[in-house]
Parts: sequence; C-alpha cells; structure tokens
Amino acid sequence: MKKLLLFVNLWLVFSNTLFSQVPNTISDEAMVPPYTVPELLISQGGKPIKNVKDWEKIRRPEVLALLEQEQYGKIPGDLKISEIKILDNDDQALGGIAIRKQVMLTFRMNGKELSVELLMYLPKEKKSFPTFLGYNFAGNQTVNRDTTIHFAKAWNGTVKERGSASENWPAEMIIKSGCGVAIMYYWDIAPDKNDYSTGVYPLFYSEGQTKPTDDEWGALSAWAWGLSRALDYLKNDKNVDGNHVFVIGHSRLGKAALWAGATDQRFAGVISNCSGCCGAALSKRVFGETIGFVNGRFPRWTCGNFKKYSDKEDSLPFDQHMVLSLIAPRPLYVASASEDSWADPKGEYLSACYASSVYALYGYKSGLNPEVVPQPDTPVSGIISHHIRSGKHDILEYDWKQYIQFAQSTIGNLLTKYKERK
Ligand code: GCU
Repeated sequence: MKKLLLFVNLWLVFSNTLFSQVPNTISDEAMVPPYTVPELLISQGGKPIKNVKDWEKIRRPEVLALLEQEQYGKIPGDLKISEIKILDNDDQALGGIAIRKQVMLTFRMNGKELSVELLMYLPKEKKSFPTFLGYNFAGNQTVNRDTTIHFAKAWNGTVKERGSASENWPAEMIIKSGCGVAIMYYWDIAPDKNDYSTGVYPLFYSEGQTKPTDDEWGALSAWAWGLSRALDYLKNDKNVDGNHVFVIGHSRLGKAALWAGATDQRFAGVISNCSGCCGAALSKRVFGETIGFVNGRFPRWTCGNFKKYSDKEDSLPFDQHMVLSLIAPRPLYVASASEDSWADPKGEYLSACYASSVYALYGYKSGLNPEVVPQPDTPVSGIISHHIRSGKHDILEYDWKQYIQFAQSTIGNLLTKYKERK
C-alpha cells in the first residue's frame, strides 16, 4: 500500500505540478468554461418531476439507464455467490476487542470460477452498527498488522507489507465506536489493468469473447458488482446488521463505492472520499482530471461507449450529480482534501449540492449551498454530509471520525424518518 500510495502521491505531485500542461486540463478556477448542469427533475419526455412517485417511476430509471449505457456499462448477467467458506472466525481479535472473520466467496459460471476473500472486524457485544464495506488497494494483509490476515495473491508481481495501509483503516477506532468493517482486495474482483482475461469478466464470456462489449461493464461497474455480492453475504452474517451497511471508498475505489450505492439500494448509505473524476466531481467543469485523461490512461474503468466523450464534456447528456441523485434518499457523504485539486474538491461539492433537489423530493434539506464552498475542516452534516480535510489525497483518521459520526447519527435520525414515510 505504501508503495502504491507513494506512487499515487508522486503521480499527484507530478500531475498537480504539470496538469496545467496536460491538454484540456485546468488548474485555475478562472479557466473553468461556462457549462450547464444537466437537468435532474425533467424527464426525457419533458415532464417536470415534482414528487417521489414520478422520480421513482419515471426519472430515476431513466438516469440509471443513461449512466449504465454511456458511462459505467451494464453487468452482463446474473451471478450470485456459489459457495461460502468460513476460513477464520476468532472472537479475540485486535487484542480481544473484536471478532475477526475471513470468508471466501466463490462464484462459478460457464465452467469458470472466481474466489474472493472478505475480511471483517466486528464488535463483540452486539451486531455492528453500522458496518462499513469497502475495498483496499493492495491486499487484505495491508489493512492491519494482525498477522492472522491472509495475504492477497501477488499484485503486479510484488507482495505488499502487512499493515502498510493501517492508517487508512483504523480498525480499533471503528470497533470501539460499535461499528464494523468488511474489506476486500479490489484487484481480486477485476484487475486494475487493461487486460480483461482475469477477475470476474471471463465468467460471463461467450465462446471466443476476450473483453466486454462496448455497453458492458468496465472495472468500476465490476467493482460495484463485487460490493453488492459482499453485501449479499453480510446480510446473512449473524454479527452484522445487514440493513445498515455503508459502502465506502477512497479515490478510484470511491468512484466504485458511489456506483455501488447508486445501483444497489440495499446499501444504507454511501461515503465517497476524494473520488474525483467519474466519482463525485462534476465532469463539465473540466477542472483537474478530465474524461479524456481517464479514458486515455484508465480505459478499463468505464465502458466502451464512454470513450466518445473524451475532451467533449460539453456534449455529455449527464454529469456526476446524477450518480449522487440515485443514492437519494439514503445518507450520502462526499469528502475531499484541500490539496487534492486533481480530484476537483469544488466540483465534488457542487455535485452534492445539485443532487440535493432529489433529496428535497423526499422532504430532506441538505443544507449545502452552491454559492459557498465550505472552508477546510468545517464539516457540514446532514442527509448529504461534506467536508474538505486539510491536506493531501488520502483517507485518514480525521475522515473516519466524521464517517462514523455521520453513519450513526443519520441512521438514527433520518433513515427512521424515511422508513416511516414508506
Ligand atoms: C489517479 C487517477 C484518479 C484516481 C487515483 C487513485 O490519480 O487519475 O482518477 O482517483 O489515481 O485511485 O488513486
């Protein structure tokens, strides 16, 4: 993880210094072109959407289909967990304060098989409330120094050190607050390289197929699928409150967490940390990382259809506030870091502001004002919560403290209200 983070940080330093020189990349607010944010509350047929019923029956399915077709790609079929193996179940973990479980989820289709390990730390006294579910960047063994954690398969030929990402996963703090955490290694579901011969993709291939078709999933969609399958498991784990699983992710894994929350309404809430382009940030601002850049450097993340929008953000019939709107009325946290201009903190904030109109249909006021971007380290709490942490592109204890408080308070106050309405 350290090496990956070092690479990511070096890359960001490099890109932050040089990104004004990357064609079509803007680092100065004054250079943001005029743009129009695509309408959320008017249907494709021109009907104004004024209530929850029309949103859920007409507009939400349209928005979901558009994003699926044009950006993230469709899941090519139905595949559920074929086998669950409990490899480890220990109630004396983390110095005796937690239950640790390591569970292998196996998927089988068309004579092919994929196995993924889910690592969990859960409180001992009662069901974890809530449980944070997310991916790590470099193998489960990186998230804690606990020597019992199984090593991930070698990543890019190198094995990452135990505990090297423990700063990003403060397991003890999470447990002490009554929450749980469930973690997978993202590369196990779909490799983060331009090669579709491993991970979940081949399980769906028809004879002779070597990559998904242009409207089928890219890696973000495949990672989102993996999060939903982990949720299938968590819903049946007796130590987990399956109705209160919050999906969380940092950076590219924040992009995946948002799409998982948008496509799977069983997630109780969604947390995006520094997710940037194709995550929370508005693409039409073309500030920092652009679609052309993502498509050029990470073509595997999105579907083939998305490639036509490279350097043509003005032609996009959608933007990232629409992804956020699909999460309504569930609690949503969009967080950024002050020095992470590559991910466009202002664009992330604006997206959250524009998604508020859908929350308003459900009777929730977000308290976010597009005219005033909050100062660093002054969180705004509510059904859509937000903060900009001082510092770099990362997920740290400060961020987690806000997420724990957010998840526990929104569940109590807001989700109950929503359930009563239904
Ligand atoms: C790169 C990429 C970002 C991504 C980040 C990460 O910086 O340009 O879009 O979020 O890597 O995942 O670390």
